[in-house]
Amino acid sequence: MVCIKVPASTANLGPGFDTLGMALSLFNYIEMIETGSADELLIEVEGEGASSIARDQSNVTWLAAREVFQIAGRYPTGLLLRQKNKIPSARGLGSSAAARVGGLLAANYLIGEPLNREQLLQLAVRLEGHPDNVAPALLGGLVVACRSDQELVYRQLTVPERLTVILAIPGFELSTYEAVQALPPKIPLGDAVFNIGQACLFITAILTQDWSLIGQAMGDRIHQSYRQRLVPGLSAVIEAARAAGALGAALSGAGPTVLALALDDQDQINANNAEPEEVNTVNRSQQIGKKMQAAFRQHGVDSIIRILKPWSQGAERIACSNIKCCSIK
Ligand code: HSE
Repeated sequence: MVCIKVPASTANLGPGFDTLGMALSLFNYIEMIETGSADELLIEVEGEGASSIARDQSNVTWLAAREVFQIAGRYPTGLLLRQKNKIPSARGLGSSAAARVGGLLAANYLIGEPLNREQLLQLAVRLEGHPDNVAPALLGGLVVACRSDQELVYRQLTVPERLTVILAIPGFELSTYEAVQALPPKIPLGDAVFNIGQACLFITAILTQDWSLIGQAMGDRIHQSYRQRLVPGLSAVIEAARAAGALGAALSGAGPTVLALALDDQDQINANNAEPEEVNTVNRSQQIGKKMQAAFRQHGVDSIIRILKPWSQGAERIACSNIKCCSIK
């Protein structure tokens, strides 16, 4: 029996379309058990997506696992796959990446680790179609991943623990397919130049821990405005987060979730040069979340707020006794 814990991820971080992604402290768990009955495939799903995730051969986690079995030429004798999900589906938080990465890793352990992490990453990118969720889900931290021709070049950066991630997660789902269809085939040169600058500034801010720079480094002109009609209130929620003291805010992946970055309260005071008495009455992250939620509500969108941390570890094998129960509340 193999048990895997795989983190959620937030892609793009504003300007880094299809290139930047960061793992988050919210997890799906996958159990894989060889049943001993040839050709048997049993799939059980608990928690997020339990009412919609396929229990047959079209299940995304199973399809990922099958790739590993096929490449290695080793198949288990019957399989029970259990998914215990805390990552909301189709909200821009890397649920499909987690499903794929979890399936790849579990299958690989089940048959004696024929593939290394590098091979698993290449496989995950091919299955997912873009690297910015699967890379942080598999590796952890903040990952810069760039595809040139057939090659994937990537580096993983550790994100300081003092950074906090505030998510406003709308009640509705948005498929990545639909969000990608909303994008134009070409973008103006000026917009591309703007995004290149912003993405470079964002990485500079992380590497130098120059937090005051984040606020000037999460702008985007190549995807968010085109997705605005799919996410009512998007600009207002980003503005509300910034006005409430977030360092910066952006659409999480393809949406509809909006993420804001903030520092733990004491650090935030230093970064903003604010007077301490201005900020210490209410926890700042909660305050930011409330304002984001209110801005969504003004546009007719109900949302829940989650306050998470960047997660420096990627998907990992855990003792099966450590698998958590699945209620997200
Ligand atoms: N970079 C992708 C997009 C992320 O924005 O479409 C999808 O999770």
